Order: sequence, then structure tokens, then C-alpha cells
Amino acid sequence: MPQPSPTALSWPAERTPGCPFDPPPAVTGLLTTAPVQRVALWDGTAWLVTRHADQVALLRDSRVSADTSHPGYPALSAGSRAMRSHSRSFIAMDDPEHADRRRVYTADFTVKRTRRLAPRVKSLIDDLLDAMERKGPPADLVADFALPLPSLVICELLGVPYADHDFFQRAGAVIVDTRSTPEEALEASRRLIDYLGDLIEHKVDHPGDDLLSRVAAEQLATGLGTREQCADEARLLLIAGHETTANMIALGTCAFLQHPEQLAAVRDGSPERVEGAVEEMLRYLTIAHMGRRRVALEDIEIGGVRIAAGDGIIFANDAANRDPEVFEHPERLDIDRSARRHLAFGSGPHQCLGQNLARVELQLAYPALFRRFPGLRLDRPLEEIPFRTAMAVYGVHELPVSW
Ligand code: HEM
Repeated sequence: MPQPSPTALSWPAERTPGCPFDPPPAVTGLLTTAPVQRVALWDGTAWLVTRHADQVALLRDSRVSADTSHPGYPALSAGSRAMRSHSRSFIAMDDPEHADRRRVYTADFTVKRTRRLAPRVKSLIDDLLDAMERKGPPADLVADFALPLPSLVICELLGVPYADHDFFQRAGAVIVDTRSTPEEALEASRRLIDYLGDLIEHKVDHPGDDLLSRVAAEQLATGLGTREQCADEARLLLIAGHETTANMIALGTCAFLQHPEQLAAVRDGSPERVEGAVEEMLRYLTIAHMGRRRVALEDIEIGGVRIAAGDGIIFANDAANRDPEVFEHPERLDIDRSARRHLAFGSGPHQCLGQNLARVELQLAYPALFRRFPGLRLDRPLEEIPFRTAMAVYGVHELPVSW
């Protein structure tokens, strides 16, 4: 069987300067030329899978493992390789172990439960926008709105004091930064796990009406879960719960500002139209842009290529979301298309646990922001906006805006 050249492309690949919303053309190009391609990583090689259909099939294939302790697992960076030695939550496990631990949390993130949070999310949005308006332009949309909103929401849901946000936002940023050294990543991860372990232990005797109090009572106090395990899972929820949504709010706003007619449609549109617009923005931006990472447990033949047992596999969900087999004119932002099949939340058993919560926040945040500030505009040329190219979660470091 012909095998593609071993190091035709380095992963992650570089985006084209001036095109901050598009995946690297070298990656989307593979959709038609080499949909399963060997790529060079920082410390070795792995297979890069680009097509939507191949990703959906393999991400639910039991021959493909998410176990980060497997020697062939393609770690994101030296920092994330170091972290896996001391922490492993269910995102890094396979079924049935994965399903057992994920099940502890699923009831908190159903459509029904997360929709119930909408009035509270709305009121947090109003408070943040009031403060922004009081302070007057210019503002940094990340610091003043996009980051505090999901941080406040996940803190209330978990029962983590928001007063500690500087600490956990900083530690989270170190963890998702591919440039962090192993020492920095380990230190940030350990401090977060210690902090959350103490918090959950405290909640055994001092419960509140929050998710971690339930975990303290049902898992820690009963011995069903260890302190380490519960703290590890809390860390996953806390970081995944604010980093991602924050970047969708800020980068999405930046993209809408480049498409004023679609921004106006979101500002004035029906809730159904806004729902569609959020799915399209998730597809268009695919902020979890460094690929879903897995390792082959057995030999797998796909796309004319044999992936050997032990090989690392990266699923480029940003390329899948630009696959013309699934999305017509995928390079266009079109809030009225059906983007429902996007892979921005991944696919298969590890598909994002918090997606319904993210949707509630995004569906409320964009229209509220655009209604409050109808004259919202970038306060700096797009070329001067600092994009998060080295972070596991793409977005903007800051977004200077005026109105
Ligand atoms: C998993 C993206 C918001 C919690 C994932 C995965 C993706 C993703 C791509 C799959 C990982 C994989 O297959 O390896 C996003 C995006 C978000 C978002 C784009 C916002 C727009 C959230 C929120 C939470 C959350 C708000 C809240 C707690 C999780 C968890 C997992 C996960 C716990 C692991 C699921 C598992 O392994 O079973 N997310 N996420 N995410 N996400 Fe999200």
C-alpha cells in the first residue's frame, strides 16, 4: 500500500497572515490531496486525518484510544506530556472507564438543565455590559466581557469562588499554552488540583447548592471517587468551562465585525436564527484548533493508508468543518446555512460535555452585546489584533473595541 511522505507537513501548521479565521491552507488542502497524511510533530510524527466522514467514523471506533498514558499518544507539547504523568481525567480515558466517570456529570449539562440557567446568564451579561457602558470606550472585550462571563457561570455552577479567578485563569492559560515548559505546566496543574482538592474536601462538611458539593457528598465522602480524581475532573470542568466559551465570544465578535450584515441579523434576529448563527460561528472558527488527539490500538486501514497499532492520530476538526463534502462553500460565513453537523465540539464518546452550556452563553451573549452597542467596532486594525496561535484554544488575547 503506498504511504504518503513522512514529514510533508508540520503540525500545527501556520495560518495565512491576514486570514485569522481560516485554518491553514496547507491543512484544508489535504482534504482533496491526502486526507490521511503523516505529519511532523514537535517530538515525532502522527497521522493527520482531515475529512469529516473519516473523523466521524474513527472517533467512535474502539480501535482508536484517547488514553494519554499510551506511549504512542501524540502529546500537544512538552508541557502536556509532563502533565499526563500526574493527572488523567475522563477526557484521557477509554470506555467503559471513561463513561463511568463522565456519567457523574452528564445530568448537570443536559439541554434542559443548562436552559434553566438562562435567566441567570442573562443577568450576568447585563451586569457586565452595564459596567462596560459606565466605564465608556475603549474597552478590551476579552477582559471586560468575554472572559468574565463564562468564568462567572462555571464558578457558580461548580461552586468555585469567583474571587479566585485571577489564580485559576492564569493557571488555565499556562496549561493551554503550548510554549509552557514542563515545569511551568506541572506547577500550574498541581496548584489547581491542590486548590480544587481542598475546596471539594471543605464541601464535604460545608455543602452548598452546587456541583462540587454534590461530588463531595456522592463521590468523595462515599469513597466512589478519590480526592485526586474529583479534583482532576473539577480542573477539567473549570478550564474547559471558561477558556473555550470566552474565546468563542471574543473571536466570534471579531468575525461578526468583519461581516456587518450578519452581525445585524444576529442583533435583530429571532432566537432560532441566533441558534443557527452560533452553530455556524462554531463551525467557521473551530477554536479547539490543534486537533482531537488519539492513538491507534490496532492496525487500521483508512483512505488508502494503513495506520499501524501504536501510531498517533490527530483529527483536524478545523479541516473537517471546511470539508466541501459536507458544507457548501465552506470558506463562507453564512449564519443561515445548516451547520449542525460541525465538529467544533468533537465527535464520538468524548464529544464536548459542556456544549449545551456553551450554547446558552453564546446565544445570549452575541445579541445582547450587539444590541447594547449598535456602533461596536474594532479600536485597532485587524492586523494588529493578537491572535492566540500558540494556545490549544484559539481566539484573541485581547480585543480592543470602541462604540
Ligand atoms: C470536550 C470543545 C465548552 C467541558 C470537548 C471536545 C471539544 C470541545 C472539541 C472534545 C475533546 C476530544 O475529543 O478530545 C469545546 C468548545 C467549547 C466548549 C469549542 C465552547 C464553545 C465547554 C464547556 C464545558 C466543557 C462550557 C463545561 C464544563 C468539556 C469536557 C470535555 C469536553 C468535560 C471532555 C468530554 C469527554 O472526554 O467525555 N470540548 N468545549 N466544554 N468539553 Fe468542551
